[in-house]
Amino acid sequence: MEKITQEIRNAHTLAVEARVHAYAPYSGFQVGAALIAEDGTVFSGCNVENASYGATICAERGAVMAANAEGHRRFRALIVVTSAEPPSVPCALCLQVLAEFCPPDFPVYTAGIEEIGNKVTLGELLPHPFSEVPSN
Ligand code: THU
Repeated sequence: MEKITQEIRNAHTLAVEARVHAYAPYSGFQVGAALIAEDGTVFSGCNVENASYGATICAERGAVMAANAEGHRRFRALIVVTSAEPPSVPCALCLQVLAEFCPPDFPVYTAGIEEIGNKVTLGELLPHPFSEVPSN
């Protein structure tokens, strides 16, 4: 098992804090995310639901958008915090958004409120992202 760095632990704490702000009156399922940019800046996100359901924004996409708004498009890792057991992985829509900016070996840490669980790569979760100009 790979060592969890202090940077990942700090990002986990921020994701746990962001999760508290989740607006999830429909599902009751709170998600927090923390995206570590290349320079170490951490952008957090939480899920924000909507009465129209489909307008709901996941925590992971919230973090990606927050990073973009400050000019960050290169990232080191993502941490996703849920109360699910085992901890949830990002949904397919979020994986596709991550694939816009992150390579297949990009690390995604799934985590609970107390514990950081597994590390998986974006490529493992989404081996064939959609690309407008396919390379093959
Ligand atoms: N959700 C996320 O925030 N991230 C995901 O990757 C999957 C699902 C949210 C959306 C919705 O508010 C709730 O979890 C239940 O699906």
